[in-house]
Amino acid sequence: MGLLPSFRACLAWALLGLVLGTELSLQESLLLKSLGLSTKPSPKTPVPVPSVLWRIFQKRKMLPSTNKDLGDACRVEEFNVPGNIIRVLTDQGHFIHNGQPPRLLCLQKRLYFNLSALEEGERLTMAQLEIKFSHNSYHPSSRGQVFELRLYQAPQMSLRGMPSQGRAPKLLVERSFAQLRKSLLFNLSGVAKDWRTYSRNLGLILEISVSGGEGASAPTSRGLRSLCASIDSFLDTSLLVVTLSQQQCEASRRRRRSVHHPPVVPSNLCKPRRLYISFSEVGWENWIIAPQGYMANYCLGECPFPLTAELNSTNHAILQTMVHSLDPQGTPQPCCVPVRLSPISILYYDNSDNVVLRHYEDMVVDECGCR
Ligand SMILES: *[C@@H]1O[C@H](CO)[C@@H](O)[C@H](O)[C@H]1NC(C)=O
Ligand SMILES: *[C@@H]1O[C@H](CO)[C@@H](O)[C@H](O)[C@H]1NC(C)=O
Ligand SMILES: *[C@@H]1O[C@H](CO)[C@@H](O)[C@H](O)[C@H]1NC(C)=O
Repeated sequence: MGLLPSFRACLAWALLGLVLGTELSLQESLLLKSLGLSTKPSPKTPVPVPSVLWRIFQKRKMLPSTNKDLGDACRVEEFNVPGNIIRVLTDQGHFIHNGQPPRLLCLQKRLYFNLSALEEGERLTMAQLEIKFSHNSYHPSSRGQVFELRLYQAPQMSLRGMPSQGRAPKLLVERSFAQLRKSLLFNLSGVAKDWRTYSRNLGLILEISVSGGEGASAPTSRGLRSLCASIDSFLDTSLLVVTLSQQQCEASRRRRRSVHHPPVVPSNLCKPRRLYISFSEVGWENWIIAPQGYMANYCLGECPFPLTAELNSTNHAILQTMVHSLDPQGTPQPCCVPVRLSPISILYYDNSDNVVLRHYEDMVVDECGCR
């Protein structure tokens, strides 16, 4: 293509290398690592994307790109907390069947959320438990009976899955509802922070029971069964966790997002060139949910003597072009490289099949310069 060798050297950019198929597996694993993944995820039973993550993803996509920079990159406006990674962890706990359930207890389930997907350096800023039902469970009678929901911190379990002797489960939440809505939310930020620091994560125990209203006669066992039956709409629980990967945020503060796609102006001078990266072309369509691809761009072009201001060069690059013009064999031209990059948000399945919305820095080339 008539490119100078130095230009080709300048193109050693991980994503582009991936597209061109050079040293694919090495590049890929380096890139996955920088995205916080140990290997390429291959979701086995992909869960549906939680609507809250879709909403946030769509909203970010719609924002004018100029609003995306600085503080915004490190804040989740929707929850008003610092963070650049949002995960929805699925529950891996089991129903507890211990023979005859105590009276009035409709549902008893152990909840377990594996937080090991979070990296060491991530600061947890929010954890919200969602308990989902397929429909609202209306109270079938008007006797003032209510559903009671209790959430305990799980104690050490014995082999039979029962709390071991002498360790009472710690009550975290106790609430009464006349009706169970499709979705109940609970703030577990404190508990989840503890799990990451000093206390072991043994999970939670969820109990839903019914209780007779005041002054009401004790519900008959048939009445109880029908009350409990409305809990059959119980679907599942998930834990939404927001974390802040500080490193990335500090990097982003130094940069400002510029704008738009590079203009299509024929020129062989150093400038951004259009490059659309399709995730299916790099074989990532299985685990990246959205976007399907994006305009990543790349830098290409000459850095001739004399360097003009538009080429965003450094003093060093200016001197290097001077030396190059005197001794073309001995000293290469400066490289045409990205000098301003901007972030994008990606929605994907991680190595544990959790759905993650993560803000990634340095994904789009906005400006190039001779360096
Ligand atoms: C949590 O996940 C990690 C890796 O994702 C795994 O090694 C570990 O065994 C899991 N822990 C439990 C209790 O399932
Ligand atoms: C959630 O709980 C933590 C402490 O456990 C508290 O600091 C935080 O403000 C709570 N968040 C909301 C939205 O109430
Ligand atoms: C150099 O930076 C300016 C803005 O600071 C930008 O308009 C221009 O496109 C950049 N040059 C290149 C080659 O990207």
